[in-house]
Amino acid sequence: MKLFFSIYLLSLPKFTTAITKMVSVNGQPDKKTGWPSIVYSNTEWDDCVQKCYNDQYCDVAYGNSSLICVFYGIADFGFATKEILSAELDRSSFKLDIPNGLCTSKVDDLFEDTQSYDRNGIYDFDITITSNKYDVNYQYRDGCEKPFVSPCSTCPHSMFIFRGTGPPTNLGTTRDIPTWFLCVLQCSTDVDCVLAWFSGYRKCTMYSFGSFDSMIRSEDLAIQPDTPSYITLKIFPLRSNCPRTENEVLNLKNMVIPSETTTGYANYSMTCAASNIEFSWVPTEVRTY
Ligand SMILES: *[C@@H]1O[C@H](CO)[C@@H](O)[C@H](O)[C@H]1NC(C)=O
Ligand SMILES: *[C@@H]1O[C@H](CO)[C@@H](O)[C@H](O)[C@H]1NC(C)=O
Repeated sequence: MKLFFSIYLLSLPKFTTAITKMVSVNGQPDKKTGWPSIVYSNTEWDDCVQKCYNDQYCDVAYGNSSLICVFYGIADFGFATKEILSAELDRSSFKLDIPNGLCTSKVDDLFEDTQSYDRNGIYDFDITITSNKYDVNYQYRDGCEKPFVSPCSTCPHSMFIFRGTGPPTNLGTTRDIPTWFLCVLQCSTDVDCVLAWFSGYRKCTMYSFGSFDSMIRSEDLAIQPDTPSYITLKIFPLRSNCPRTENEVLNLKNMVIPSETTTGYANYSMTCAASNIEFSWVPTEVRTY
C-alpha cells in the first residue's frame, strides 16, 4: 500500500502542471515581520499586481487607497492580517502555483497546497489561514540560514535582524540585491561580512569586521517611500552566553570571530544604550602573556 502511494505521488506531475497566478485578498502585511524590497507610489492596484507577477523577485504585493504598491520577496513576509470585507482599503496579492484545472468559488482553497519554491534559499512554503490572518511558514534550504531563531543551536553563527541606519562610514560595499532576505543571505555566506544594511530599496551595503564603531537603531516600522532601514548583524554567541532578548543580543561580549576571516580581528563586543550601538574590535595580533 505504501509503495503504491509513493508511485502515485511521483507520477502526479505528469498529469498536473501548476500555473502561477496572483491570488488577491483583503489584508494588510504585518509591519514588524514584513521587510518590503521595493515601494512604488501612484500605482493602481491592478498595475501593482501585474508588476509583481512580472517580477521574479516579487512574491507578495500590497496596495492601499493611497495608490502605494509594495513588493515583498520570499522570506521577507511574516503574515497579513485580514481586513474586514466592507473596508477593501488594504489589499494583498500572493503569487501562488495553482494546480491546473482547479476551479473553486472559495479563495481559501487556493492556499491549501504547499508551494514548492526551491530557489533564493527557500525550499518550500505554506500559508495557513486563520480567523484573522494569512500566516506564512517557510522551509529554508539550510536551516542555519533562517534569520535568528535559535542563536545558540549548532549553527556557526546567526543573523540577527532589526531596524536601524547603517554605520556612518563609507567603508561598506554596495551591491544591487533584489530582496532583503538575499542581502541577509549574502552577508551570512560571506566570511568577511558582519553587518549588512538595506541602504536603499534593492541596495545591500555590506561591512566587514572592524570597519565601523557605531550605528543607530530604530523602532520605526513605517514603510518608508525611498529609504528602508533594515540591518542584519552576524553574531557568534557562546552557548553559555545565549541571548534571550533583543537587548541581550545588542550587548553581547567577546564573540569569537572565525579564523578564516581575512580582516584581522579575533573578537568583537557590543554595547547598546538607548538607540546607539557601539562596537569594539579586538585585533588578532593582540596577545596576552
Ligand atoms: C497606505 O500605506 C502606506 C504605507 O504603509 C501608508 O503610509 C498610508 O498611510 C496608507 N494609506 C492609507 C489610506 O491607509
Ligand atoms: C575572545 O573571547 C574569548 C571568549 O569569550 C575569550 O576567552 C578571549 O580571551 C577573548 N580574546 C581576546 C583577545 O579578548
